Amino acid sequence: MVMNRSRTSPPPARRPARQAAPLLPAYREHARSYDRDTSAFQHYRQAIVEALPVGPGQVVLDVGCGTGLCCGLLRDKVGPQGGVVGIEESPEMAAVAREHIAAEDWHNVTVVQARAEDAEIAVTADAALFCAVHDILQSRDALRNVLNRLCPGAWVAAGGGKWAPAVMVAVNMHVRMLHAPYVRSFDGFGRPWSNLEQLIEDVHIQEMAFGSGYIVTGQTPRRAGPSRAAQRAPGQR
Ligand SMILES: C[S@@+](CC[C@H](N)C(=O)[O-])C[C@H]1O[C@@H](n2cnc3c(N)ncnc32)[C@H](O)[C@@H]1O
Repeated sequence: MVMNRSRTSPPPARRPARQAAPLLPAYREHARSYDRDTSAFQHYRQAIVEALPVGPGQVVLDVGCGTGLCCGLLRDKVGPQGGVVGIEESPEMAAVAREHIAAEDWHNVTVVQARAEDAEIAVTADAALFCAVHDILQSRDALRNVLNRLCPGAWVAAGGGKWAPAVMVAVNMHVRMLHAPYVRSFDGFGRPWSNLEQLIEDVHIQEMAFGSGYIVTGQTPRRAGPSRAAQRAPGQR
């Protein structure tokens, strides 16, 4: 039997916040060597930041900013009148990012140390960057929270590692070795942007390095309601 809830019944209990998964060693005890350990990826960071169309005076979120290796690249694009807000859950990574920011004297770059799922973001931003943040892209709660803080039509760019086609066994062995220290799980590694593409429009996907890397761009819907992407039939591009 289905019962209608009367007008006086109590509101449904608030869903408890999902327990945060433990931080990876790469983002705790190895936070101080992160920049050196991942320096080989810097040209990918540059390519992903380049793909994000933001300009002088705009505000951009650097989601999962880590030690801030993209913050300077983003600041170069938005200039001294714009702003960069990093969101980073690891206190150790956020501390290194803040040291870089202080050393560079970037007054318009800040870091919110919080999970992207429940970070309180005090701005409405013009764009968001998701650089090498596979775990965040797998979290619908994180994507919802971040995208809610973007203005309509805001640009989004995401990029990082992914599985190459299955026939490329040697490439994928390398991919696993390279990314294992930095992801909690390889779930979704075949198409890391599959949650994001439900929430943005005019999705453009570029694969590189034999399919073991990608850059995805798109824009938040310009009007209320589900995005055109979410309205498409499954399998339809
Ligand atoms: C591979 S690093 C990338 C850092 C930076 N974007 C870069 O390009 O070097 C992934 C970062 O995402 C952060 N992270 C993972 N899950 C997160 C979450 N749910 N909320 C906020 N930060 C998260 C990690 O702590 C780590 O610093």
